[in-house]
Order: sequence, then structure tokens, then C-alpha cells
Amino acid sequence: MSGLHGLATRALRGLDPEDAHGLAIRALQMGLGPVGRPEDPILATDLAGLKLPNPVGLAPGFDKNAEAFGPMLRAGFGLVECGTVTPLPQAGNPRPRLFRLTQDRAVINRMGFNNQGLEPFAARLARRGPGIVGANIGANKDAQDRIADYVTGLKRLWGLASYFTLNISSPNTPGLRALQTRAALEDLLGRVAEARDGLAPEGRVPMFLKVAPDLEDGEVETIVETVCAFGLAGIMVANTTVSRPALRSAGRDEAGGLSGAPLMALSTQVLRRFGEAAAGRLALVGVGGVGSGADAYAKIRAGAHAVQLYSALVFEGPGLVARIKRDLADRLRGDGFASTSHAVGAK
Ligand code: FNR
Repeated sequence: MSGLHGLATRALRGLDPEDAHGLAIRALQMGLGPVGRPEDPILATDLAGLKLPNPVGLAPGFDKNAEAFGPMLRAGFGLVECGTVTPLPQAGNPRPRLFRLTQDRAVINRMGFNNQGLEPFAARLARRGPGIVGANIGANKDAQDRIADYVTGLKRLWGLASYFTLNISSPNTPGLRALQTRAALEDLLGRVAEARDGLAPEGRVPMFLKVAPDLEDGEVETIVETVCAFGLAGIMVANTTVSRPALRSAGRDEAGGLSGAPLMALSTQVLRRFGEAAAGRLALVGVGGVGSGADAYAKIRAGAHAVQLYSALVFEGPGLVARIKRDLADRLRGDGFASTSHAVGAK
């Protein structure tokens, strides 16, 4: 880890996790983040027609209000997903609601979609420069009609984001994940697709669905068929888990979604199931537990066109992305692949 950023990351780890996150965002805004090296061309890849300089993305939840996507692109991420943003500003759950499980290299959160709402988010996205910036949209906790909130988000941000993600998989908004069942998903995607088809065609960008890793048998196939039927581009696999694999850290019994290293195996297994069900029809993004080049490579070999990470940054700082990319490039070359795309789903 490079001197200054390593020092800063260790100092932040001594603070309350949410205070540390707020400080990290401020520091990034002040230009104190790392600056990535020129890209290795072997890492270039395609995600549903989006040309990524590399397949390592920043997962949503880090930059909920679209305040730090520029510095994170500069740090070397190939894509940055902002949000989840809800139509109206929302305070989220009472603090503490974010827990570091240091011994497990994991995080538990029950933030509950705390965010500033669509207006400031849209204003910041409107000023963005080059680079792939996605908008992850969700519903307010108290919405009478949750699906209408997704439509509102899509309309307000149309033309401003490189892609959209519909987040129906946060465990921290009661009832949200019920949108993953067939009838509810058809209703959601039907209304969102109808809105999309009525918007200016030049604003059209890929749309993804973000799913939970905690799915019953058969749900994977149902989700894939529904997503294909409504013309979405792909699926983000996956959000945090409500399951609790064996954990050692204090804080392991906190309520909320678990992320980080203990999520790697489960989310990669679910990713593989989505890849098999989609059989090449959808673009997949592997999210959950990525903390190294080996993890990123494993997701790509399991069928991911790109990966995203968040929790590992809590422990490693933003210099991690450069290390992951270097290691991933070595692994691709070592196995004789000409580019990331060639390794997607390779046995
Ligand atoms: C998240 N995640 C998340 N996902 C999402 O779609 N919308 C959100 O608002 C958030 N918020 C959020 C907050 C915090 C504190 C964490 C740790 C995570 C989930 C995140 O994008 C990702 O799917 C999981 O964290 C798994 O990836 P990692 O963290 O294991 O790399």
C-alpha cells in the first residue's frame, strides 16, 4: 500500500465506520485520492455494449449521493455505480448501522437507503466528465407505490447515467426483496419498461437488475426469464446476504446485510447459476467479496463480464484497485487470454 494512502486508511480504521466513510468521501472530493496508472490494454472489456477500460468497478453504497465518482474513476475503477438513490431524501435507520468485522474482513450494514434524494444526485451527474458512471435506483421506505419510485428515478436521471440498476435486493428496506418474486417482478419490469420506451431514445442505456444472493431454487431461472422478456441488459449478482456463514468477529450478530470476504463463495456460486440460466443472453456483473485479483478472476471465469467491490476498500483503501488490476492482468496473460472478454465464463 502506498505510504500516504496506507497511513490514511489505517487512521480511518480507528474511527467509527460511518464517520470514517464520511471523511473518506470528503478527502476524495478534496483531491486526496490515489491516481491510477495508465490502463493495461489487456483489461479492456465490454459490458452490454459499454466499453470499460478495465472490469473492476466500485459497487453502489460507497457513493450513495454521487459525490465522489470522479475521484474513484481517477483512482482506476473501470466503472462507478452511484446510489442507491430514492426519489425523496431519506435519513435511513438509526446509528450505529455500519459495522466492521475486522477478523472476518467483512462488513454488516443496515443503513436503510440513507441518501439525499434525486435532485442533488441528478445535478451532480449532469456535471460529470468521461468515464462509466451508473445510477442505482430504489424506492423510499414509505412509498405508497414502490414501483412508481423506480419510474420516477429512471425519468429524472434519463440521459445522465451510463447505465441504470434497479435495486430490489437491499435487506434493509422491509418488503423490498419481495419484488424478486415472479408476479411482483413482472409488474416492476413491465412498468419500468413502459416508461423507458416512452423516453427519448437517444438517452437509452443498458439497464440491470440487482439481486440478492439469498434465493430459493427456481428463483434464478424465473428472474432470468423475466429480465430477458422485458429487454433488460443484465443482472448484478449480488447484494449483501442475510445468511450468516461462520464468523469470528464481535458484531457478527448485528442485524443487516453481510458483505466482504465471507460473501465471496456464496455470491460466486449464485453468479454461476445465473450464468447457466442466462446461457449468454445477459451481461452479468459479479459482486460480493472481491478483495484480490484472484477473486476478480474467479468471478470472471464464473461468468461475470465485470466485477464490483466495496467492503474490501474498508480494509485496504482505494489503492486496492490498482493492485487487483495488476494481478488480474498477470493472471489473464498467464492463462493465455488476449483480453478480459475472452476469459468470461471460461472453464
Ligand atoms: C452496500 N450495498 C449496496 N448495494 C446497493 O445496491 N445499494 C446500496 O445503497 C448499497 N449500500 C451499501 C452500503 C454498505 C455500507 C455496504 C457495505 C454495501 C451492497 C454492495 O453494493 C455490494 O453488493 C455488497 O456489499 C457486496 O460486495 P462487497 O462489499 O463484498 O464487495
